[in-house]
Amino acid sequence: MTALSLFGWISLALALQAAIGLGIGFSRHWQRYRRLELAPAAVVAETPVAAAAWRATRKFRVARRVVEDQAASVCSFHLVPEDGQPLPPFHPGQFLTFDLDLPGGDTLVRCYSLSDAPQPDHYRVSIKRVPSGRSSNYFHDHVAVGSMLSLRAPGGHFYLEAGTAPLVLIAGGIGITPMLSMLNWSLTQQPEREVWLFHGVRNASEQVMREHLESQARQHANFHLHICHSDPLPDEVAGRDYHHAGRVSIDLLRLTLPLHAYQFYICGPGPMMASMVAGLEDWGVAGARIHFEAFGPASVKRRAPAAPAQEAGTDIQITFARTGMTATWRRSAGTLLEFAEQEGIPVDSSCRSGACGTCRTTITAGEVSYNQPPDYDPEPGTCLLCVCTPKTSVTLEA
Ligand SMILES: Cc1cc2nc3c(=O)[nH]c(=O)nc-3n(C[C@H](O)[C@H](O)[C@H](O)COP(=O)(O)OP(=O)(O)OC[C@H]3O[C@@H](n4cnc5c(N)ncnc54)[C@H](O)[C@@H]3O)c2cc1C
Ligand code: FES
Repeated sequence: MTALSLFGWISLALALQAAIGLGIGFSRHWQRYRRLELAPAAVVAETPVAAAAWRATRKFRVARRVVEDQAASVCSFHLVPEDGQPLPPFHPGQFLTFDLDLPGGDTLVRCYSLSDAPQPDHYRVSIKRVPSGRSSNYFHDHVAVGSMLSLRAPGGHFYLEAGTAPLVLIAGGIGITPMLSMLNWSLTQQPEREVWLFHGVRNASEQVMREHLESQARQHANFHLHICHSDPLPDEVAGRDYHHAGRVSIDLLRLTLPLHAYQFYICGPGPMMASMVAGLEDWGVAGARIHFEAFGPASVKRRAPAAPAQEAGTDIQITFARTGMTATWRRSAGTLLEFAEQEGIPVDSSCRSGACGTCRTTITAGEVSYNQPPDYDPEPGTCLLCVCTPKTSVTLEA
């Protein structure tokens, strides 16, 4: 073999090797591209978010009403959008805000938790009749199938995150509504996740959606249902009508729950939430694992670092510009809403828990702080009087 032909064979072999390398590289690249293209959307999709929700209000028609308890004090309303457009999803645990026009011309703003997992065609809320309550009695007595209602988009920061940590849902009375949404979503979307539900009511007459809860517990071995009756009726039998006599308590949780790093979600009357949150903190549960929502004035005080004491001699002055009045605020006066009411300043309010935005007020000077981020996000330059206190002297447009 001459040197020339040897050089020719070597060149040919190198060219062949390069072609094979390029071919393999291209084929791998193509396969990776196909895998990405064909990957199901669920691989990249996250928990549903109400990001694409609407601005202001949207009209909904009541498609169905369902009485949910023996005492007929809780009624569910199924709501479908009148415009027929798609319904944005929401996080399980969030609420809707209703702008209500009452008979007689009064208007009211009220928040109601979504009481089911996100559904493609309707939202559901479940409302308890409150003695002399304007909104709840309006719903029970006047809102019928076919009624039209004005709704603001789902919102709120109390919601379930997708994850693997076992869940403990603790509900008192009508506080079951956001838990139903979380439970229904979790059992269908994360069927392996452990869920414990503790629901406290006085007796069977107040038990909401009992059949649904019991059938879910029968179907899902990872769902543990614990119903507590604090005042059982004479004919009620422990083990048949309820699991535990008494209120939901930390002692009950300690006796019942195997040791795990749970995520706790709590919703119920103020005193119950205050004692549960304090009890969990005493038990050593990290604050980041305790989530709660009040249906009224915030009564739970987190064990947060103490706020800087008001320095002696540095009075905080609150100026109500429209009313033309200035007064000295002290920590004992509470939130700026409570302070305004004590001073006789007319300010609108509704939920008194930072959820609905009714008490939103422009702040033209000074700074305020929130004990915890409110559900309603106030626009820059405004504050929610019902859940804020002043950090400095402030001027409010009120
Ligand atoms: C985020 C959030 C989610 C919620 N989710 C739900 C839910 O899923 N289901 C549900 O049923 N509720 C829920 N609520 C509570 C709901 O928004 C209302 O507060 C509730 O329905 C009572 O409203 P109402 O208009 O019927 O009562 P209101 O008219 O506001 O009255 C409430 C109570 O105060 C008393 N009262 C009113 N005015 C006076 C007065 N001047 N003097 C003395 N007493 C007075 C009434 O007698 C009544 O007992 C939620 C609240 C929030 C903030
Ligand atoms: S009253 Fe609802 S946010 Fe203040």
